[in-house]
Amino acid sequence: MQDIKEVVKEKYSKIAIEVKQEGCCGSEAATTNCMAENYNPEEIADVEIANLGLGCGTPTAFADLKEGMTVLDLGSGAGIDVFIASKYVGSTGKVIGLDMTQEMIARAEENAKKLGITNVAFKLGEIEKMPIESATVDRVISNCVLNLVPDKGKAFVEIYRVLKTNGEFIISDIVSTGTMPDDVRKSAELWAGCVAGAMDKDEYLALIKRAGFKEVQILKEKKYDEYSSDHFALLSVTIRGKK
Ligand SMILES: C[S@@+](CC[C@H](N)C(=O)[O-])C[C@H]1O[C@@H](n2cnc3c(N)ncnc32)[C@H](O)[C@@H]1O
Repeated sequence: MQDIKEVVKEKYSKIAIEVKQEGCCGSEAATTNCMAENYNPEEIADVEIANLGLGCGTPTAFADLKEGMTVLDLGSGAGIDVFIASKYVGSTGKVIGLDMTQEMIARAEENAKKLGITNVAFKLGEIEKMPIESATVDRVISNCVLNLVPDKGKAFVEIYRVLKTNGEFIISDIVSTGTMPDDVRKSAELWAGCVAGAMDKDEYLALIKRAGFKEVQILKEKKYDEYSSDHFALLSVTIRGKK
């Protein structure tokens, strides 16, 4: 497990330093299926510098964000969803970006400074053991990250812990249906590209419910044809659940 995390960290620290815009999850083959088409252009125009094209959905569009809320973005990268959410929660709210890659945190902080956004904070830490107090968050959002986390069950238990009662998560992620070919599953490089770490959709939903969430709903689903066959499909999904 630790090896996979090291591969993931190495990959995203390189992306953070190289200042280039990547395809979805840094995987070139998935470029054409990514979020770029989904973000509202007006909404990202002034925060575009934080958009590395690493997402696979637009969780902020489904999160019903309001003034004064506390929002936590898991695997915040260069901060794109943090900065979008910061507009909704205003000066009375705050948005925290959590990422385990030091170089991503540094890049996000630099972006916040350049953009003059002050209702945000970036924290270094792992989703499976968040440096966040229990029951303090109104919305957990995340974009194309949990597929990279080896212990997704632990991640959802942690998400449940940090949310307030009636708080919600809105997560965009990659999942699969059918049987993933073994060579794909085993490749750590593909894991870092968000393909091999994709969990079976039904197992993923079961983990969420086991963590205690209610009203679990798939809000959006899209198939990646280039990775799919008659027996296997790779999907991007945006899922919501309530504590
Ligand atoms: C595919 S990128 C997505 C970045 C951002 N959400 C976006 O849409 O641009 C994945 C990010 O998640 C972070 N990450 C992966 N696994 C993590 C973990 N277990 N805990 C915290 N951060 C993690 C990586 O460092 C990387 O910045």
